[in-house]
Amino acid sequence: MNRVLVKVPASTANLGPGFDTLGMALSLFAWIEMSAADKTEFRLYGDQMKGVPTDKSNLIYKVAQLVFKEAGVEVPELCVSMYSDIPLTRGLGSSASAIVGALVAANALIGSPLSEDKLFQLATSLEGHPDNVGASLFGGIVVSAWDGERADHVRLEPHPRLETLVAIPAFQLSTEKARHALPSQISMADAVFNVGRSSLLVAALASGELGLIRHAMRDRLHQPYRAALIPGMTAILERAADYGALGAALSGAGPTLIAFVDAESPRKSELEAFLLETLQREGIEAKTMWLKPVAAGPEITVKSAAESEDFMSRIKGEVMQ
Ligand code: HSE
Repeated sequence: MNRVLVKVPASTANLGPGFDTLGMALSLFAWIEMSAADKTEFRLYGDQMKGVPTDKSNLIYKVAQLVFKEAGVEVPELCVSMYSDIPLTRGLGSSASAIVGALVAANALIGSPLSEDKLFQLATSLEGHPDNVGASLFGGIVVSAWDGERADHVRLEPHPRLETLVAIPAFQLSTEKARHALPSQISMADAVFNVGRSSLLVAALASGELGLIRHAMRDRLHQPYRAALIPGMTAILERAADYGALGAALSGAGPTLIAFVDAESPRKSELEAFLLETLQREGIEAKTMWLKPVAAGPEITVKSAAESEDFMSRIKGEVMQ
């Protein structure tokens, strides 16, 4: 039997107006190694893994079993190692990357009988929306729509000069809580506003008209309702472009804020200071990171189970710690 190592990117979802629809893979990663075992065992490394279950209720284990069931094979006992640089419950798609990593690793372990599309369908129903999982699975910018049964998508190549600055607040915000803040109905005027902005944003990203992002990255579906959960957010979204950003949005369900930036902009440190100072004024501690869009989805390496090199040595040099 083999040992499969999967490196899967984080993601930002919504990109402002594209609620539950747009996602982009980011240069922050999680690694999952999986092999068949005599007895199930979890080796979880790093701060992001604290509190993650180490029995068969573990998400990676359960998702892997779903793949085996779909494929009609049995691999009841697994050895799973995981390390992640993606902060949990901050709006950077940590759960989506775990789901995608587990699906891809389990599928590769049994010779990849499930298609990428099948993995996308499974990932979308597990996550409940296609935006983060699509980005982690396909890489790049992913436009997707899900009707509760089938998810369709188109992947766009990120512009080579596109870079992002994320401000990650020190507090966690669950997607569930951030979705609870949303109204069950919106006005026709707000719906039309978002259709316009989201369409314009996709067209701007596809055609490379980065100057349009500023006008397109506006939203009336979710960000205004979530603003109360993230002090400082409104000021950042309204004014980031004045400090050199191409546009700014709440990353996924938050609380992370993301600014899109021209990689060649001379105003990067000014923008970073603006984000940090705005959050600080609200008493919010945050850390910033410059992340690039990632064009590729998961990287899979298959080795023989007899290979002696351990998991952390295999990924050493790539992880942030
Ligand atoms: N589209 C989702 C939301 C992303 O905004 O709730 C969070 O995972």
